[in-house]
Amino acid sequence: MRQRKLKNLDERLNAFSHLIIEDPAENKGRWKQVFGSDDPIWLEIGCGKGQFITGHAKAHPERNYIAVEGHESVVLRALEKADQLRADQADGGQKAGPDNLCFILEYVKDIRDFFDDGELEGIYLNFSDPWPKDRHAKRRLTYGKRLRQYVQILKPGGVIVFKTDNEGLFEFTLQQIQSEGMEILEMSRDLHHSPYNEENITTEYEDKFALTGKNINYVKFRA
Ligand SMILES: C[S@@+](CC[C@H](N)C(=O)[O-])C[C@H]1O[C@@H](n2cnc3c(N)ncnc32)[C@H](O)[C@@H]1O
Repeated sequence: MRQRKLKNLDERLNAFSHLIIEDPAENKGRWKQVFGSDDPIWLEIGCGKGQFITGHAKAHPERNYIAVEGHESVVLRALEKADQLRADQADGGQKAGPDNLCFILEYVKDIRDFFDDGELEGIYLNFSDPWPKDRHAKRRLTYGKRLRQYVQILKPGGVIVFKTDNEGLFEFTLQQIQSEGMEILEMSRDLHHSPYNEENITTEYEDKFALTGKNINYVKFRA
């Protein structure tokens, strides 16, 4: 089914052009210059409505964040949150907002199109689309080949952090981590009742599932 576009979507997105990186491939290898700082850069692929990434940008002004999202009507909500954060931080005289958060409005095919080797400190994948049919396994964001691409753009020791409600996708991801010979640093099948929850910042999907009592699966790993 064709996606219903929000009214005046282009116009509404344009209002946040200061937060959007129009040609991300052009910034490959020069993201530090984009932020104007040497602070470590973290990426979220599929940020949805942006609660998680804006929460992180607020909690960690000493880091820089890039959020990627291909669904424009959805990312509009994330841009609104980020812009509000920027306004709040400007009032408080603190560094945050687009100073440490920007957006790429695309569906990632090969993340190496946008980032050079070793440019990132970490990558977040939150409640990624499960693509449950076997024949669609390659589309999953934790498919082995994609994990190898992520590792390439991470600095040595850089981490990938994954959360999902979906048991099948979680098992698949653990298998991919194992077959790629990667190292699990933290893991829980019930994040919200685990010690890792203390520093957890939730996503919109996570809140929705948690309200129904659904357990949240979590794994942090590296090459
Ligand atoms: C199930 S939603 C979860 C959204 C958000 N992470 C959350 O937890 O609330 C998955 C999101 O990932 C986005 N997405 C899926 N594949 C993507 C890709 N290859 N590049 C960028 N975004 C993608 C979708 O558009 C969708 O908004």
